[in-house]
Amino acid sequence: MNRDSIEQVVGSYDPDRPLAQAWTIPGSWYVDDRVDRLERDAVFARSWQVIGRSDQVSGPGDFVTAEFAGEPIVAVRGTDGALRAFFNVCRHHAAAVETRAEGRTHLLRCPYHGWTYSLQGELKGTPDFQGVCDFDRARNGLVPVAVAEWEGFVFVRLSSEGPALTDFLGPLIEQFRPMNLSSLHFVERRRYAFDCNWKVFVDNYLDGGYHVPHLHKGLDSVLDYGKYQIENGERYCLQSSPVVREGAEAETGAVRTGDRALYYWIYPNFMVNWYEGLMDTNLVLPLGVNRTEVIFDFYFSDVSADAQARNAASIAVGQRIQDEDTAICHSVQKGLTSRAYQAGRLSVRREGGEHLFHRLLAADLRRALSLR
Ligand code: FES
Ligand SMILES: [Fe+2]
Repeated sequence: MNRDSIEQVVGSYDPDRPLAQAWTIPGSWYVDDRVDRLERDAVFARSWQVIGRSDQVSGPGDFVTAEFAGEPIVAVRGTDGALRAFFNVCRHHAAAVETRAEGRTHLLRCPYHGWTYSLQGELKGTPDFQGVCDFDRARNGLVPVAVAEWEGFVFVRLSSEGPALTDFLGPLIEQFRPMNLSSLHFVERRRYAFDCNWKVFVDNYLDGGYHVPHLHKGLDSVLDYGKYQIENGERYCLQSSPVVREGAEAETGAVRTGDRALYYWIYPNFMVNWYEGLMDTNLVLPLGVNRTEVIFDFYFSDVSADAQARNAASIAVGQRIQDEDTAICHSVQKGLTSRAYQAGRLSVRREGGEHLFHRLLAADLRRALSLR
């Protein structure tokens, strides 16, 4: 148990050091429950979070549910065509109103005592509720959440304060256009559990390819490690690499083609990995201070019967890379709790994205604690 106050823990990282002089955030940030709780409000509630895909909610009555930062959410398309999102929490006794992951409905009915809500979130039906004093039905609709769509992803922001999605994404909007994501089709979702803090997974992603030659021999064989590039934006990092054919390991080379691999990280927890003709997205969800779920969605441009075997082989290569990362993430989590470790230094050539992540995180935590 850390005897320092949360202000001391957060204040112990210096976000102003340039990369060549920087340290990582301290090990305590990955193991302290107070940091985990603070992040829910300061990071996850304030940022735009992906909760689903636009193709899941394309028609009237289509809905999708999700949960992050301990909050159940439902997004539903109204008969007027507008997409709305709500806390998926019944105003009666707090049960989840919609319990399915996705589907189509004409009203939202709570399974507990049968209260019903319109697709606009208005409270409609309250069985056996006659004689209840000072109960204003109009004030007991589902509590709304800000929602917006971009490039086929549905985002919500829990906090009523914060930038609009377009401001949050900034130059990414232009950068994504040529990737033509609308030509890709969702094929499969896989969920991975990691015994580590969510930031360990993000750090691992943002190390500029540093670990690739050591941990991912197959992936390494198709990337040009020397030409791997790291570009930081205000709230994102783009890592990219030429894709090479010569010397490619057979399994990986067969399914990672095109000229370039693009790996976008959008603060704090969403990644888009793009190769010609395919993409996977990673959504990193903290389940506790040392438990993380990463949701992978796989997309392909060609989803014909002929392409099925190749697409499955591509997903298998993705799965192998995750399996290679699982053990190292666990190992890092363990080491972060060791009395021998406080913080580490960063490679100037490779780890600029990680530095950006740590500085953005520090800014959010400091703001929440009203530190300088
Ligand atoms: S908790 Fe929803 S109807 Fe009672
Ligand atoms: Fe990795």
